[in-house]
Amino acid sequence: MIIAVDGPAASGKGTLASGLAAHYRLPHLDTGLLYRAVGLAIAGHEDEAGFEEAAIAAARALDASHLTDLEALTSAETGVLASKVAVIGPVRQALYDYQRNFATQAAGAVLDGRDIGTKIAPDADVKLFIQADSKSRMERRARQLEKRGKAVDRYALYHQIEERDARDMLNPNGGFYKADDAHLLDTTLLDIEAALRAAIAIVDGTMARKAGL
Ligand code: C5P
Repeated sequence: MIIAVDGPAASGKGTLASGLAAHYRLPHLDTGLLYRAVGLAIAGHEDEAGFEEAAIAAARALDASHLTDLEALTSAETGVLASKVAVIGPVRQALYDYQRNFATQAAGAVLDGRDIGTKIAPDADVKLFIQADSKSRMERRARQLEKRGKAVDRYALYHQIEERDARDMLNPNGGFYKADDAHLLDTTLLDIEAALRAAIAIVDGTMARKAGL
């Protein structure tokens, strides 16, 4: 079974995807980490000439060893860098095979990102599109960062999230929209447990319908 989980920054899609992966015993790939790793590779050079070429080279050279420094990869600044490299067509192209191979492995998979249901795994068995209002997404991300001992400027974080959403949604090389056959799950008023229960109900219901039950 392939489950695609898409949604904007800090919508809870990563937590939901790893919860679904644990529940159904499926391998999980957070595809945002790939873009973040490319962003990190060009950190400090994003406004220089030649940064696109450097990003493309970093995407082509990417392997699992670049996905281990979670502290640096998951920072808010790296998120912004990720959204800058994610608009470069050849970067997306270079990351496609890694994601597609993960999605089509025999064991099945859960992938979360922006374009899983539209581009990476349009053939996924179940597609979820997660949304939540910007303010609650900011608050969730702020608490995650504070838990890690980071000082958070909520005003700046809110704007960072909005800026990233806008860049992602307008990305001409992206695919960040709800697929026609994706199930919309709004987590604004749900805690993690309730959101996971709702997601499991959608997956079970979809699979049962497909099996003709
Ligand atoms: O999901 P996360 O917030 O970690 O993603 C970081 C950035 O990577 C996103 O803002 C987006 O620009 C990019 N991304 C993407 N396609 C994906 C996953 C992430 O363009 N499938």
